[in-house]
Amino acid sequence: MSNQIDSAVASIRKKGAFKANVALVLGSGLGNFVDALSNTTRIPFADIPGFPVSTVEGHSGELVYGFLGDVPVLVNSGRVHFYEGYSLDQVIYPIQILKALGANTIILTNAAGSIREEYAPGDLMLITKLMNQTGHSVYPDNTEPDNIFTSEFLDMAKKVARQVSVPIKTGSYAGLNGPSYETPAEIRFLRSKQADAVGMSTVHESMAAFQLGMQVLGISCLTNYAAGILDQPLNHEEVMETGIRVREDFAKILNELVQEISR
Ligand code: HPA
Repeated sequence: MSNQIDSAVASIRKKGAFKANVALVLGSGLGNFVDALSNTTRIPFADIPGFPVSTVEGHSGELVYGFLGDVPVLVNSGRVHFYEGYSLDQVIYPIQILKALGANTIILTNAAGSIREEYAPGDLMLITKLMNQTGHSVYPDNTEPDNIFTSEFLDMAKKVARQVSVPIKTGSYAGLNGPSYETPAEIRFLRSKQADAVGMSTVHESMAAFQLGMQVLGISCLTNYAAGILDQPLNHEEVMETGIRVREDFAKILNELVQEISR
């Protein structure tokens, strides 16, 4: 694996500097944040040795190197999911690449369903805890860590959100395999276990990043009420549309957060 990572890094660095302390992973509908970067160099995931390529709508799939103000950032616009048939190793490989490119801090973003009435579609939620409901783990022989998201980093994100006047919630994220959305009964179960949001990504990436010694932050864009919370069906278009609606708020927070991290 490390040979593969070395050769991926070598191939990436042929295209540009691709060196930054801060990395971002952009989830469903949030990929256009790369337009906020200046001086970008872009590499399609398909051109990076070993990199898994997503088949899902809304995940364009490129590694972007660019600047927010003066701050260099590495951005994975898009990700692959376990349900696409990739192994856990493949799901976390992009995180290993970001680390190998110099990132010590990572902000993982996703689209998620809200399990609480008071967390509405369009709200952003800082992830405080993970509930790994996938049946797979990057810690197969060990207890999974419960302290991935530090109060220091969470407090910084809350402060930044206040500064840019974007309200932000906090809560637990339950990661399921998908690809189907949950049944209302599953959502009632998760709710009874104090989950606040549900999605199909982020748990393994967060744990892999933590394992690599990175500072990790998770931000969910709540795109819909989870199944059964409202008396209406949900669909992927709604998820995409809400992503589009909250882009501006999301961009404000990410931009200011990256500045604050590098101060
Ligand atoms: N469930 C699971 N994953 C999701 C949802 C949901 O309701 N919304 C966006 N991703």
